[in-house]
Amino acid sequence: MDRVPAHVGLILDGNGRWANQRGLPRTAGHLAGEEALFDTVEGALELGIKWVTAYTFSTENWSRSDEEVEFLMWFNEDLLLRRRDDLHKQGVRMVFAGDMDDPRIPGRNRKHMAEAAEKTRDNTELTLVFAFNYGSRREIVDAARKLASGDPEAITEETLSAAMYVPDMPDVDLVIRSSGEHRLSNFLLWQSAYAEFYFPGILWPDFDRHALVDAVVEYQSRERRFGSAEDQVD
Ligand code: IPE
Ligand code: IPE
Ligand code: MG
Repeated sequence: MDRVPAHVGLILDGNGRWANQRGLPRTAGHLAGEEALFDTVEGALELGIKWVTAYTFSTENWSRSDEEVEFLMWFNEDLLLRRRDDLHKQGVRMVFAGDMDDPRIPGRNRKHMAEAAEKTRDNTELTLVFAFNYGSRREIVDAARKLASGDPEAITEETLSAAMYVPDMPDVDLVIRSSGEHRLSNFLLWQSAYAEFYFPGILWPDFDRHALVDAVVEYQSRERRFGSAEDQVD
């Protein structure tokens, strides 16, 4: 396929509604969302997409019930342990972006994230970033703090980008948010400055590699101008 996006951002939304519609607890929706995510990652590998960032827990998600937060902490760790060998075999590099120093993240979870990142660090087929305890505003504030002790003249768009959680992360080409919500919810604000947006109405557990292909086909029909006039774009 020609002109595939280099970096796709996924805002996995609608798990709770999916479960509610079936009379199930919200956590059942998160469980069902796992298959959707990994089918989509396989689709990305098939399409030759090199970067996928999946928003799995936001800095605002701590405001959910203790029960749901506890479940999401456990689930994110469990999923990692069950999926990492498979992902490694498929040449996927696993990266974790977020405020990992937050004491509310269980220590075991933090350790397993670090191990998965270390194990897969040299893989080159695809980089899968888990945006976990991620908030874009906090990321930008942290990056600004890192640079603040140096020379203000040395702060450029490039040095600020390199001070983000994942220094080599390229700009996002395509953001997909499922469930019909049309907002970023603090996801990759800096990196999505010129992204295309795609909002499938389906709930996240119903998303899969075919839905990803639909999104990429739609992306290919968009004309990205980056500020230039229409007749300058080929
Ligand atoms: C997205 O689904 C998963 C996470 C935020 C962890 P939601 O849990 O937000 O599902 P809805 O939006 O309530 O349906
Ligand atoms: C965004 O979804 C966060 C994740 C997908 C992890 P939310 O469901 O938390 O976002 P809002 O509250 O609808 O904006
Ligand atoms: Mg939601």
